Amino acid sequence: MSYNLLKGKRGIIFGALDENSIAWKTAERAHEEGASFVLTNAPVALRMGTINTLAEKTNSEVIPADATKVEDLENLIEKSQEILGGKIDFVLHSIGMSINVRKGKHYTDQNYDWTHKGLDVSAMSFHKLMQTLHKKDAMNEWGSIVALTYMAAQRVFPDYNDMADNKAYLESIARSFGYFFGKEKKVRVNTISQSPTPTSAGQGVKGFTGFMNYAEKMSPLGNATALECADYTLTLFSDLTKKVTLQNLFHDGGFSNMGVSQEIMEAMEE
Ligand SMILES: NC(=O)c1ccc[n+]([C@@H]2O[C@H](COP(=O)([O-])OP(=O)(O)OC[C@H]3O[C@@H](n4cnc5c(N)ncnc54)[C@H](O)[C@@H]3O)[C@@H](O)[C@H]2O)c1
Repeated sequence: MSYNLLKGKRGIIFGALDENSIAWKTAERAHEEGASFVLTNAPVALRMGTINTLAEKTNSEVIPADATKVEDLENLIEKSQEILGGKIDFVLHSIGMSINVRKGKHYTDQNYDWTHKGLDVSAMSFHKLMQTLHKKDAMNEWGSIVALTYMAAQRVFPDYNDMADNKAYLESIARSFGYFFGKEKKVRVNTISQSPTPTSAGQGVKGFTGFMNYAEKMSPLGNATALECADYTLTLFSDLTKKVTLQNLFHDGGFSNMGVSQEIMEAMEE
């Protein structure tokens, strides 16, 4: 169902790799809700993925940008405004990557070059993106910027590895930059802390299936899907949430406030 929630709004969506990606679902839903937007991803991901299918479906253009490179971001933001015909109303940062996770390097035995790279891609890129938008005065008043995160920023999930630290940094950047963006440009900045979701990035985490099943059993409403995350993200892009900013918003079926559930108790008694 569509409500024209984003009618006339212009956006930039990072991170649609394939149809499982949270950003992919967000782009499909944003299109249904009347938005126009530019899709972007790292050049290497554009070669591997199927983003052109999404671009055709949503009538949008694709501009490559490595989110760790300020010159790529500058080009992206300039071209997006030209293509879309004005300043930007919403931006989705849906980017995450840890080489330590990918290569199975334990948290107590980090390769720091990889740690550094993961931090740059997963967290500092959010600062670079917002700094570029801010310097170029590219956001419309009452615009909205969202990044995706995970609860390992607050609590221990051993196999989440250095991504836990990256997410803590990402959430802090949202608050710190959100202050200046709010004061100066009336732009809001939030993070959405999403349930484990079967995507490329999600399934890269060791023991992901066990992790997902556990969260499913712990959450009174069950895990939130990628499509549900897209829907929640759209509410933050809409005019219905104008005074929500500097928040880390849990979108996890209730998991983050649970101690234990009946299902887990029963499983432990077996
Ligand atoms: N899947 C989960 O369980 C889960 C849970 C909570 C939060 N998240 C977060 O959601 C976001 C989206 O991930 P997803 O699960 O949809 O997986 P995904 O693998 O589909 O998306 C990750 C994206 O990051 C992009 N990316 C990597 N390096 C980049 C770079 N240098 N520049 C630009 N883009 C780059 C990838 O190309 C990919 O499109 C991430 O921030 C992830 O941490 C995921």
